[in-house]
Amino acid sequence: MSDIIAQLEAKRAEAMLGGGQKRIDSQHAKGKLTARERLEILLDDGSFEEIDMYVEHNCVDFGMDEQHIPGDGVVTGSGTINGRLVFVFSQDFTVFGGSLSERHAEKICKVLDNAMKVGAPVIGINDSGGARIQEGVASLGGYADVFQKNVLASGVIPQLSLIMGPCAGGAVYSPAMTDFIFMVKDSSYMFVTGPDVVKTVTNEIVTQEELGGAVTHTTKTSVADVAYENDIEALLAARDFIDFMPLSNREEVPERPTADPWDRLEESLDTLIPDNANQPYDMHEVIRKMLDEGDFFEVQPAHAGNIICGFGRMEGSTVGVVANQPMVLAGCLDINASKKAARFVRYCDAFNIPIVTLVDVPGFLPGTSQEHNGIIKHGAKLLFAYAEATVPKITIITRKAYGGAYDVMASKHLRGDLNYAWPTAEIAVMGAKGAVEIIFRGKTPEEIAERTAEYEARFANPFIAAQKGFIDEVILPHSTRRRVALGLRKLRNKQLENPWKKHDNIPL
Ligand code: HXC
Repeated sequence: MSDIIAQLEAKRAEAMLGGGQKRIDSQHAKGKLTARERLEILLDDGSFEEIDMYVEHNCVDFGMDEQHIPGDGVVTGSGTINGRLVFVFSQDFTVFGGSLSERHAEKICKVLDNAMKVGAPVIGINDSGGARIQEGVASLGGYADVFQKNVLASGVIPQLSLIMGPCAGGAVYSPAMTDFIFMVKDSSYMFVTGPDVVKTVTNEIVTQEELGGAVTHTTKTSVADVAYENDIEALLAARDFIDFMPLSNREEVPERPTADPWDRLEESLDTLIPDNANQPYDMHEVIRKMLDEGDFFEVQPAHAGNIICGFGRMEGSTVGVVANQPMVLAGCLDINASKKAARFVRYCDAFNIPIVTLVDVPGFLPGTSQEHNGIIKHGAKLLFAYAEATVPKITIITRKAYGGAYDVMASKHLRGDLNYAWPTAEIAVMGAKGAVEIIFRGKTPEEIAERTAEYEARFANPFIAAQKGFIDEVILPHSTRRRVALGLRKLRNKQLENPWKKHDNIPL
């Protein structure tokens, strides 16, 4: 018996070593952790239970029949994060460059199947040279099998991808179909075709980092959500992030104990809005002062800064926050902001996360670049997302809510449940000066100034909208947290269903 146990331990030890000490050292020399080290940081101490440790590839070509490494380049299983179940896979670059074989793909598919069966998130750690070249088409099939499972799992269980090394070619499409992507600066990259192919085809010379590094994808492309300095920072952030998430679309959002009083008043918010309507202020201040302990996990902070999206908690329960940011492009909605917020709203709706929307929006960004690139279609995404969302929706207009953007930003007309305005709110078809210049075209500057003042006095307030019931109540800024907390309590048992359909046809 003891012999058998010793054999098992030896087998385990061999598997734990992946591609061997030399390759582990090389991984460390690149500033990267190994697949197993990453899981140790990601998961609660001692909680990881591995499966399929002894799976090996079935390839016999190119001398592969003589090279077998247990696990076949991916470590899979489950564990807990702050006591809650998650399923994980972590590609092992020390084994055939973490490349995806048929068996490697089957292991990932099993993780997704297991997670779907019980309803728990999947976190995938990507560090791979792509398709296992020796396996050819079998590997392509394996990728497609993973893609299919990602799609079926979308909206059922949260899926988070951590990119911690290469992720190139068609391999990018598995993370691209998950809900959120975190990347590590300088050691991870994602592209469909790498710098060499780009140079051959287009003559452009570009580095891996410029083409598809963490900074590129979290600023320009928005393919990824957040960039971190190193593996450890990204893994710890993933732990915080998962703490906000329900386990599946069948579960309520998690509740964490909080010492923050639900009715905490924030007097400083009463003086936040500048006297001059064109002067910006930082909407993050409202968000942090509203949420429990000021704790806010922002997604895509470096992309489309004119809209802020992220997760926080009210009375211990997760909420999604969407807010216009007057400090960037005056808080205008543009293509990038609309796409960013639309995807976020749909995620919240899919996973029963109430949405709190803070509005200070002067309208859609004008210009040929916006029009020619389809602001109509992209702006419609956000409108569509808010309109179809059935989760509790609380909206607070802090200052401007002009034109179509007023409608879009979770207005009463899009089934906003509680729509509040600060006394500083200006809810109108457009800004006073622009409106007067149209309806009093040709008048002298003095007359225009006079009419502008008249228009402002009449419309630059929340009361016309409140008279019509578009605003439920004009609230004091300092009471924002209390109002939102009470609102969320009231909406806890909200029931609202959209008409049956196979699926909708959001303007993609
Ligand atoms: C098999 C691979 C591999 C692969 C790397 N390795 N990529 N083995 N299939 N795709 C192996 C190497 O042979 C090497 O083995 C070890 O992994 C480490 O690789 P290095 O090249 O030494 O590492 P590094 O210098 O860090 O470069 C990493 C790399 C490079 C940039 C990822 O390995 C590379 O360019 N690999 C090929 C990438 C590629 O073209 N993949 C196919 C893309 S097509 P030893 O034994 O020496 O340690 C694709 C299609 C997917 O993915 C389609 C889905 C629909």
